Amino acid sequence: MKEILSIIKDEVTAAFVACGYEEKYGYVSISNRPDLCEYQCNGAMAAAKQYKKAPIAIATEVCEKLAEDKMFASVEACPPGFLNIKLAEDFLATYVNEMSEDDRLGMDQVENPKTIMIDYGGPNVAKPLHVGHLRSAIIGESIKRIGKFVGNNVIGDVHLGDWGLQMGLIITELRLRKPELVYFDGTYTGEYPKEPPFTISELEEIYPTASGKSKEDAAYKEEAMNATYELQHGNRGYQALLGHILNVSVTDLKKNYENLNVSFELWKGESDAQPYISDMVEKMKADGYAYISEGALVVDVKEDTDTKEIPPCMILKSDGASLYNTTDLATLVWRMKDYHPNKVIYVVDKRQELYFTQVFRCARKTGIVPPETDLEFVGFGTMNGKDGKPFKTREGGVMRLETLVSEINEKMYEKIIENDTMDEEEARKTAKMVALSAIKYGDLSNQASKDYIFDVERFTSFEGNTGPYILYTIVRMKSILNKYAALGKQVENKKILPAASESEKSLMLELTKFNSAIRGAYEESAPHKICAYIYDLANAFNHFYHETKIMAEEDDKKQASYIMLLELTKKALETCIDLLGFEAPERM
Ligand code: ARG
Repeated sequence: MKEILSIIKDEVTAAFVACGYEEKYGYVSISNRPDLCEYQCNGAMAAAKQYKKAPIAIATEVCEKLAEDKMFASVEACPPGFLNIKLAEDFLATYVNEMSEDDRLGMDQVENPKTIMIDYGGPNVAKPLHVGHLRSAIIGESIKRIGKFVGNNVIGDVHLGDWGLQMGLIITELRLRKPELVYFDGTYTGEYPKEPPFTISELEEIYPTASGKSKEDAAYKEEAMNATYELQHGNRGYQALLGHILNVSVTDLKKNYENLNVSFELWKGESDAQPYISDMVEKMKADGYAYISEGALVVDVKEDTDTKEIPPCMILKSDGASLYNTTDLATLVWRMKDYHPNKVIYVVDKRQELYFTQVFRCARKTGIVPPETDLEFVGFGTMNGKDGKPFKTREGGVMRLETLVSEINEKMYEKIIENDTMDEEEARKTAKMVALSAIKYGDLSNQASKDYIFDVERFTSFEGNTGPYILYTIVRMKSILNKYAALGKQVENKKILPAASESEKSLMLELTKFNSAIRGAYEESAPHKICAYIYDLANAFNHFYHETKIMAEEDDKKQASYIMLLELTKKALETCIDLLGFEAPERM
């Protein structure tokens, strides 16, 4: 369906043109004075200069042209030259009915679906997920869902960190503890055991221990670097160990992501880029892009228009070891080869922005990524605690994601059980759903690039701009719909009738913004636009609900119309929260 704003704009533009003015003056926006009008056009003010007339004279002319227009309840020319517009209730009801007849509530699919790859999550193998990984998972999942909803083929890739020094560290520590393991026997040529030589908890303990040791003990670090090099250059035993580390870790990660309602189409990692590295490097050298600088192999990526220094992109270290860069570039090699994406989106901490500028430029310059493929960096800010510093545990340590999620679950459970409306099992399940909405909405309602404060009290509140408030609104609708269904009324010709009150009209006006809100969120990779939309929509609904006797309405047609309006609002909210990555319970 055409967006309502553009229907109105076309109408107003036609009036400007009919009065002899250029069409560019007919732009319309949502009113910033909702007390005066619903939409406004300020074009007369701009046209005044070109046509050397008083703005109010132009506004009055256009206003007279629009006077008979059935689309509007009123159009007023106000000094110094505004056009204040109110929609006709009939026109609005027609639009809303059309939405309600459409499965997609008026949001068209894109005409030319794209293949979009989205790199998000980015957990590091053998390290527990911490809150730093939360944002990438939440924002990336939402961007992915939005991209799919508008009709694209979107492929999410978790891009595991499974290739750096951390692997060498784990191997080194393991070798120290269990030197008898067959993986460390260089003469062994048989098959390696299927069972991993460690559990997830051991693995999670081994890594920090090894990492700590390497900071104090230069020889230990040296050994870990050697192990990393050997792993990357074909040591069979180490590669078998990597396989085990991956399996154990991925099983655990999947469980964690599942709890967040986050899933990935691809579970590729940095290590999957390995087979592409040597050809890529050779080509960069042969094409004359890569050269040796201070022992390392680099590609220049600075451009004449740069206002700040963009250092060269380092491809190989002086010892020939690959880096984070190398795997990201080689990952683009297989992404292009296997998927030919029109776009690759990276949802990563904004502190990596410069790094991605280098990678993107290098990938373009060396021809890994063709000009027609977009590369987009969606950098997110830090999740802070109430003290404005990065979110920590009470003891000041790094907060594990699992701990955070279970603390919020617990808090929600206590709130829900207080209401005493359901049994323990349902309360647990409901608490999980509501808690997830608190976490995700709390995050997504902020523009991704901004830092934000994770305020548990505020995010878990059932009032205000929160996930639980949105869910509460949906639950309220479900309960009304159940009551109505129980009446068993058969109403013929069910239609949403033109609004009979201010609050009903406001609700309809909010509903009509559905397609433009989703388009905006899609085009700008900005889920916060969907949050803003549903917050306004939920408020408009609750206001309508308080002003209107729905169940006590005696006129069946009117009541059926309210119910349809409510169904549509519920569907809009449910569609949107699904795009944000959470869902509503039956009760709460
Ligand atoms: N593993 C990285 C980290 O924890 C994030 C990976 C981001 N994605 C990428 N393609 N580099 O910082």
